[in-house]
Amino acid sequence: MQTTQNTSFPKHFLWGASTSSFQFEGGATLGNKGISVQDLQQPNPGCCDFSVASDHYHHYKEDIALMAEMGFKAYRMSIAWSRILPDGFHLNPEGIDFYKNIFNECHRYHIEPIVTIFHFDIPQALIDLYGSWLDRRMIDAYVDYAKQLFKHYKDDVHYWLTFNEQNMLIFFGAVDIMGSNRMFHSDKELYQQAHHQLVAQARAMILCHELCPTAKIGPVPNITCCYPKTCHPLDYIAAKRFCDLRNYFYLDALVKGQYPTTCLSYLQQQEAMFTWEAKDMDYLKNAHPDFIAFNYYGGATVEHWKKEDALNLEQLQNMENHDISFLSILAQKPSIGKSVSNEYIAKTSYNMNIDPIGLTATLIDLYDRYHLPLIITENGCGCEDELTPDECIHDDYRIDYLRQHILAVKAALDLNVDVFGYCPWSAIDLISTREGCRKRYGFVYVNRDDFDVKDLKRIRKDSFYWYQKVIQSNGSQL
Ligand code: BG6
Repeated sequence: MQTTQNTSFPKHFLWGASTSSFQFEGGATLGNKGISVQDLQQPNPGCCDFSVASDHYHHYKEDIALMAEMGFKAYRMSIAWSRILPDGFHLNPEGIDFYKNIFNECHRYHIEPIVTIFHFDIPQALIDLYGSWLDRRMIDAYVDYAKQLFKHYKDDVHYWLTFNEQNMLIFFGAVDIMGSNRMFHSDKELYQQAHHQLVAQARAMILCHELCPTAKIGPVPNITCCYPKTCHPLDYIAAKRFCDLRNYFYLDALVKGQYPTTCLSYLQQQEAMFTWEAKDMDYLKNAHPDFIAFNYYGGATVEHWKKEDALNLEQLQNMENHDISFLSILAQKPSIGKSVSNEYIAKTSYNMNIDPIGLTATLIDLYDRYHLPLIITENGCGCEDELTPDECIHDDYRIDYLRQHILAVKAALDLNVDVFGYCPWSAIDLISTREGCRKRYGFVYVNRDDFDVKDLKRIRKDSFYWYQKVIQSNGSQL
């Protein structure tokens, strides 16, 4: 997107990168950690599990030193719920100390931790007890967990994120998309879960404001603009309604304290309307997030719904999880539209969109709708990297991808959108949710593969040195 101004990045812009505990940490059975749902996940064929991951558990000092060497101002990470409350109820002091040490290490280098409370890893004990988020008691379980974090890390953490990509869990939620454990849910069950998760987040935000008055807290959905496939008016309407269901259902609830009417009417039509208690809406109205964090991996393109598009569950059961058409089938919304490919958008070797213009558009849309400061907490290029015999990784494709997206952030800043940070995925290589560790995102290579954890040596990629310069120059040397 062309703009005429040439704004600099703000002085205190939070340059950094992200990870999540289950994909990065390892130590799955160490330090009195409880079993999390991710520990029981059946990996896709040929992919490793998350038990060792990048072994950040033992390498955190080295890892944070590498982040400091790149010049990070912020590090977006997550806490494993099952490390803090192994059985969902009783505190694990070793878990508390583990993250305390990580925060101390960050502060030693003046890196601001941005901490996700929940990134896809519920203690299994809670699932054994309550089944799922369909049970309202999950709200209290989440709020009690958040309370422990606020209490213990009040002085360490100034930015909290409530729930990673809640919208994707629900939007694609006809199945558990993270591994090959397939669980199908009806829309009625999904949206009931979504409502409980939103109430839990609202209560955590209210609590955070009470217990940590100097901290800021916000949600972290996966947001992208939705393009109509053609200029046909029906495609235009489909894209707008798809966008409401994919993006605004969640953000409107937390920022405006109400659900978009288009979504409520969709749920009524689908006989999938959820139930709520009167006080729930008060919580949503009083949540008042301080900012919006969002993950961005490229635009969605929508074609209006036709009767013959009806979902075929049998077809779904037989598809591989990594098959892109599997995800597009999951993204079909009966009577609204379906997700289709876009000839104007390039793809990575893993079929992910490369759509920097969509990032500028998303930043503008979000800012205009909610008037809250924005931070990008994921965005990145998952590729197979080649380690050369002299231990280099020439990942110019990643540099190119990130450069384009940073320019897109700059274009939004030029239009006076308030963006205060950029934390791509991922700081250091970690395990992808569905495609093992060969699909890498980091600035630092971790020497392991899907079958052998090897020596887990950390090796700086070309993108490491490039990002170091970007940060040093506050975004002027791209
Ligand atoms: C985001 C998730 O949706 O996408 C991350 O928050 C995930 O946990 C990232 O790793 C990239 O997706 P994938 O499937 O390549 O790991």
